[in-house]
Amino acid sequence: MKIELLDKNNEISSSLEIVFLKNLESSSDKELLEVLDFKAKDESCVLLVESKKIYVGYEESTYDSIAIAMANGVRKLKETNYESAKIVLNDDLKENFKAIIEGAYLGEYKFTKYKSENKVKKVQLNVIVDEVTKELEKTLKESKIIGKAVNKARDMVNTPPADFYPKIMAKKAEKIADDLALDIKVEGEKFLKENGMNAMLSVGRASVHESKLIHLTYKPSDAKKKVVLVGKGLTYDSGGLSLKPADFMVTMKADKSGGCAVMSTIWAIAKLELPFEVHAIVGAVENMIGGNAYKPDDVLKAKNGKTIEIRNTDAEGRLVLADCLSYAQDEIKDIDYIFDYATLTGACVVGVGEYTTGIMGNNEILKRNAVLAALRSGEYATTLDFNRFLKKAIKSEIADICNIANTRYGGAITAGMFLDNFITDENKNKWIHFDIAGPAFVEKPWGYNPHGASGTGVRMTIKFLQDLLKNN
Ligand code: BES
Ligand code: ZN
Ligand code: ZN
Repeated sequence: MKIELLDKNNEISSSLEIVFLKNLESSSDKELLEVLDFKAKDESCVLLVESKKIYVGYEESTYDSIAIAMANGVRKLKETNYESAKIVLNDDLKENFKAIIEGAYLGEYKFTKYKSENKVKKVQLNVIVDEVTKELEKTLKESKIIGKAVNKARDMVNTPPADFYPKIMAKKAEKIADDLALDIKVEGEKFLKENGMNAMLSVGRASVHESKLIHLTYKPSDAKKKVVLVGKGLTYDSGGLSLKPADFMVTMKADKSGGCAVMSTIWAIAKLELPFEVHAIVGAVENMIGGNAYKPDDVLKAKNGKTIEIRNTDAEGRLVLADCLSYAQDEIKDIDYIFDYATLTGACVVGVGEYTTGIMGNNEILKRNAVLAALRSGEYATTLDFNRFLKKAIKSEIADICNIANTRYGGAITAGMFLDNFITDENKNKWIHFDIAGPAFVEKPWGYNPHGASGTGVRMTIKFLQDLLKNN
């Protein structure tokens, strides 16, 4: 898709116009729209061929309302053989220009790689304004990068496990590093063994695919803060010997969403040339069954020396993250922020619904700011609080800690508190855990998200960093 910003005197001709309507009164097609029972509501969309207009409704001048309207408009355009459309920016739309651009990119996305009839239709959007300001141009440039980054994450997550295993994930990271001149390290199982990363190593042991630790670094000369992003990259989660039931296994190709999010985020940050030193660390592992598999009853020693009693091999993400978080903190000194992203628990989805990320950590202000950044970026997020009683639920009789809780309740929080065991004292207040199990993969399309991966985490992280710049 091509999007151009044009002032009204330099307008180029477009085959259609996408018109945003908050009420019908303002429309020259009012009577026709009424006959069609078109309502100026979120999600409503109609094409009037004679007037060459696609009408989209919106209820509020908010990111969601406008991004959803834009997504519907672009989808309708792509259903036709018209090749371009113009959008004339009114004041409401100008204020939400970010939502227009991102809504267009996120809404037009389709994962068609595995369709034999795979014709991709390219469209052009001409955005017409009274005056092309520097501010609008800047937003256009930024939002294009953000939209592309989200779609990059979606493409990776949507790719089936036969074509996307740890080595491929590492290849994708190498491609990102090549394109943007980032530093990259990819380590295999020999490294994991030599560095005592037994928790991560054990999870991948029954897979035919070697586990990979991926470490991308973006280090601009004007870096103001050091930010570490750690992602769960389970290229497939069968559950291991604590095998998932058939219905629950489907979609577990998306268990690499956290890893894909951090890879796409560092790509976007480098593209945007944000002044932060950013590290993206991914534990790329496949959790499988076999004679060689790690077992319930095993006790594993993690990189930081803590021993973990395994009672369920399906609680594998926390084991991979434990070692990746330790690796990150051993390797990188004087961290300002350390964030991890993971499709970690079904409990988080049960608790807060499938649209919302669960935000956990020890620093109230940091958690608050993360929630605000998420909401401002167009993502949904809420905090889930740790407490001293749930902490006891992951005690073990025979090891330092157990990989599952002894209670059915609060599973997202006990998983977050498990990870806290692998955060050093120095970093306790710099750490946030994002449980993206709900929104990472969309089974029933919602808003501008089609079926499949949503790219959760990318927008909120970029926004968090952009906000840091504003506040300094
Ligand atoms: N990858 C899953 C969590 C998940 C569930 C992600 C649903 C997306 C949608 C994770 O590895 C897992 O299986 N967690 C278990 C933990 C349990 C054994 C304590 C779960 O949530 O059931
Ligand atoms: Zn699992
Ligand atoms: Zn998992």
